[in-house]
Amino acid sequence: MTNWQKSNWRAKPRVQMPEYIDTAKLNAVEAQLSNYPPLVFAGEARRLKDDLAAASRGEAFLLQGGDCAESFEQFSADGIRDTFKVMLQMAMVLTYGAKVPVIKLGRMAGQFAKPRSAPTEVIDGVELPSYRGDIINELEFTEKGRIPDPAKMLQAYTQAAATLNLLRAFSTGGYADVHQVHSWTLGFTESERAAEYRELANRMTDALDFMTAAGVNQDTAHTLQTVDFYTSHESLLLEFEEALTRLDTTSGNWLAGSGHLIWIGDRTRQPDGAHVEFCSGVLNPIGLKCGPSMTADDLKALMSKLNPENEAGRLTLIARFGAGKVGDHLPRLIQAVKEEGANVLWTCDAMHGNTIKSSTGYKTRPFESVLREVREFFAIHKAEGTIPGGVHFEMTGQDVTECTGGVRAVSDEDLSDRYHTACDPRLNASQSLELAFLVAKELSTMRENRDTRAAG
Ligand code: PEP
Ligand code: CO
Repeated sequence: MTNWQKSNWRAKPRVQMPEYIDTAKLNAVEAQLSNYPPLVFAGEARRLKDDLAAASRGEAFLLQGGDCAESFEQFSADGIRDTFKVMLQMAMVLTYGAKVPVIKLGRMAGQFAKPRSAPTEVIDGVELPSYRGDIINELEFTEKGRIPDPAKMLQAYTQAAATLNLLRAFSTGGYADVHQVHSWTLGFTESERAAEYRELANRMTDALDFMTAAGVNQDTAHTLQTVDFYTSHESLLLEFEEALTRLDTTSGNWLAGSGHLIWIGDRTRQPDGAHVEFCSGVLNPIGLKCGPSMTADDLKALMSKLNPENEAGRLTLIARFGAGKVGDHLPRLIQAVKEEGANVLWTCDAMHGNTIKSSTGYKTRPFESVLREVREFFAIHKAEGTIPGGVHFEMTGQDVTECTGGVRAVSDEDLSDRYHTACDPRLNASQSLELAFLVAKELSTMRENRDTRAAG
């Protein structure tokens, strides 16, 4: 990008960003962050891009998941380990169905800033600015807590660095070794899925034993003992993003050093706005949320801004329409992609179009709606002859009660038991694994149909 500067977004209209009152403090924080090391490296972002390009051709499948909003208060090694562990389990189940490698991409180590549907919130007649994520202000409903504080960016950086450090250790330090497949079983003991998972794990152990006996393992030992685990977050707080942007001296391109993939939210995707401007100039793979209001022309304009060279793996389109609505919106966007001959990876965020208020007053998402949206997404791609390349979930390894349904049936009344999310409701460990099995079935049916067509 010849004319692109990391600060160009400042001249563009911005939405969903805080107005900092203490600008001297803001400037000091930005200066400090600009001197800190990047969290990720250009080579890693490029490798993820290659992996995503493979997924767009149907040679890999993307699993993106994690918290809606990471929290300072709930930050713990156990929390990170458990989400990492469920993602490995889900990936194994999906690999089994899809028979292609599964790319593991956490909504982790940087997912702190939140767009909100209203600028203020009223509780008991008191109106205060909305909570915008721990990197900006506080969840606690007090006047002081809701004032945006630039210093929170430093705490977010530190937490992201510590999270990534642990993820890197888990990925390469023996924990992710597939031979450990049995020890990844969490507290699934009572669920039907636990038995199904154990059976799969047994089959895998057999296969691994066979490979060792046959001497196959030597060359692949490294691949089986480590895992590539990538990070992602919404690129919303552009002061933070700019401060962590670094020049990659190998390629002469700019890297958003805050995470491997960054995405643009459904509320901040204005083609001439600040967020699109920022993302257009960095070399990272970019995600773009596509909600019901996106027109074919919007998408065409965004694709030409965000991927003018039509590079494979650069752009991941994250469809999030809601169960029952995929058929109303996805076909026109697929058509737009076809007309442009654009290289994109299609994935399905089955969470953000399915948020409802429960009878007990909690913001929730029914498991059945999440599953139904994924199925509709697959069905439409089948009809269009295009590739459904991944799924995107808000989920946690903890045993929370935030989404209803699943085999261990969380009811409206149960939601109050362990409702811990700082923002949107997440699938718990058991619901996540269950969903992985159901998605794996869709993937294996798709693969069988394709094989039958190829044979016939
Ligand atoms: C999110 O992913 O948490 C989010 C806010 O999504 P969207 O922009 O699709 O509403
Ligand atoms: Co969310």
